[in-house]
Amino acid sequence: MAWTKQYESRFIRVNPERRHFQVNRRVYTDPAIFELEKQRLLRRSWQYLGHESEVAAKNDFLVRQVIDTTLIFTRDRNGALHAFYNSCPHRGAIICRENAGNRRNFTCPYHGWVFKNSGELQTQNATHGYEADFNAEQMYNLLPVPRLATRAGFVFVNFDQDAMPLDEFLGDAGDRIDMLSQHSPAGLEVIGGMQEYYIKANYKLMCENSYDGYHLYATHGSYLDYQFSMLKGLDVRKPEGAGRGLSNGHSCFELDIQTGRPIAQWLPVWGEKARA
Ligand code: FES
Repeated sequence: MAWTKQYESRFIRVNPERRHFQVNRRVYTDPAIFELEKQRLLRRSWQYLGHESEVAAKNDFLVRQVIDTTLIFTRDRNGALHAFYNSCPHRGAIICRENAGNRRNFTCPYHGWVFKNSGELQTQNATHGYEADFNAEQMYNLLPVPRLATRAGFVFVNFDQDAMPLDEFLGDAGDRIDMLSQHSPAGLEVIGGMQEYYIKANYKLMCENSYDGYHLYATHGSYLDYQFSMLKGLDVRKPEGAGRGLSNGHSCFELDIQTGRPIAQWLPVWGEKARA
């Protein structure tokens, strides 16, 4: 079989003529490869931090992990959004130990320095030992992530100061994000709770699974049976979909399926009250 030299490496080989694309499975599990990806790719790419509606009120905050770094995602007392490293600029203690809440200030539990939720050091909580102009260079404020940008209410960060602008990075994926945010005239609100996955692999396996729509019938048959039983008597379409390549290496899976959706698709099992 003729593999295209241009695309042959230790990790992939491609034969465009025969439409073969093979990946060495180590890329999904080898910690050393994942580590390289973090340094060379992920920390230089825009990463999703959260949605504006998750910190809707002034002084709301969340603590989120992005790659290996824990960040405080906060809306300050004037309504501006920030992402700060959750690490004290004094001696590196973890500052915020709650996952979410509403605070005007963050107090470091180690020596008691207090920071405004816009990042400025407010007080060192000490009666002596510091010069009056101790923070004149502003170097003891909370450290912001180098870049923060928003697309249609979705907030992203980038650890690389020189990264390309978010909109350029998102390319056609930005249109899909816009579309998601425009489902209702009332806008989009991310509500509480989360789904967490634990897998013996890195993130790429979850991506592969998300774009793999043709496992639906074989793997999720009982779920489909349930859906169809809920739709009895209605004109039910067979689910159809396709994985789509968007620009800059982004992709998505689009599926036309009659499952229940809080906004776009009501199911009889939810009752008449929920229909509106
Ligand atoms: Fe935070 Fe000292 S380490 S105040």
